[in-house]
Amino acid sequence: MLILGIETSCDETAAAVVRDDGLVLSDVIHSQIKLHAPYGGIVPELASRDHMKNIRPVIDQALRQSNVGLPDIGGISVTCRPGLSGALLVGIQIAKGIAFARKLPVVGVDHLMGHLLAVFLRHEPGDERKPDWPFVALIVSGGHTALYRVDGPELPDIRELGATRDDAAGEAFDKVAKLLGLGYPGGPIIDRLAREGDPTQIPLSRPMPGRNTFEFSFSGLKTNVMRYVTEFGVPSDNESLRNLCATFQTRVVDTLVKKAVLAAKAERVKSLVIGGGVAANSQLRASLRSACERHGIDLFAPTLRACTDNAAMIAYAGRHRLVSGQSDATSLTMSPYTALNSVTRKGPGRRARPS
Ligand code: KG4
Ligand code: ZN
Repeated sequence: MLILGIETSCDETAAAVVRDDGLVLSDVIHSQIKLHAPYGGIVPELASRDHMKNIRPVIDQALRQSNVGLPDIGGISVTCRPGLSGALLVGIQIAKGIAFARKLPVVGVDHLMGHLLAVFLRHEPGDERKPDWPFVALIVSGGHTALYRVDGPELPDIRELGATRDDAAGEAFDKVAKLLGLGYPGGPIIDRLAREGDPTQIPLSRPMPGRNTFEFSFSGLKTNVMRYVTEFGVPSDNESLRNLCATFQTRVVDTLVKKAVLAAKAERVKSLVIGGGVAANSQLRASLRSACERHGIDLFAPTLRACTDNAAMIAYAGRHRLVSGQSDATSLTMSPYTALNSVTRKGPGRRARPS
């Protein structure tokens, strides 16, 4: 079956055609970064309008690039949660419209399921390495940071082990970059600067030091950077700026690596999977690779393009329901919240222990 995937949950208008075995035939992304840049963050109303403008051309391009036409498509997968309400509705409406006109099944997909399963996408025929079920997954994006136990490809198979109590890792990257006047999104910029920095020169706190839980907290680290900047100013020389970026990034990466390995061991799984925009971080990928090697865990990371938001992962995440003949046609609606279960209390207070 060929699946048309549609993603409009935030600031990327995306469409893709993916075969039901995960082979990506096309993967088109129109980013709104420039549109929102002057406001220093995403403006929901502008996001919806821009999705409206671009969704048709983006879908047309995805079909053209895959060399298939709508008559070849067997089903549609569209992000229906979590995200900006108006933005989600644009994708859902066009998915329903195409499904109605072509008499196709359409399923709504949780965006986080897309990130969780992005590792199954294949960009070349013959690229067959896949994780075995069950596995532990670390999802690190701009909106979410959490560890999951994943027993299968559908929602009831997934259990949260712990999540951030405040900022997501990507949010911390973006806020620190903004503080340092580096631009948006901050993750890739800090990643680049940190490569030539020394992470031992600037004293920054470790997020949640010594706590053996699967929860995260990044707001203290961000405040620490803010205090440093208030006291010493934004570093004016390149070397100090790179050192600050390297220290901040090392603090984030060390915590993510430590907890992900701890979770994989506690759940006694062979494979660790990562996903979400921050999974593109070069230091995180390298540190996880060596930690997993040391602990005898198989690490599975999506390609860099499949880490950040895209529609190929949405097509694949809807695949299991489409292949088994399901459709949400009339009931399909949006929600700003994820459908994945959550065990983590946000904010201060007692912390959950690993079970
Ligand atoms: O998954 P994603 O595209 O969107 C959400 O679902 O949130 O993730 C976007 C986030 C942004 O916060 C961005 O700064 C971060 O991923 N990011 C990175 C890198 N590339 C993107 N963070 C650290 N290092 C990177 N190389
Ligand atoms: Zn995402």
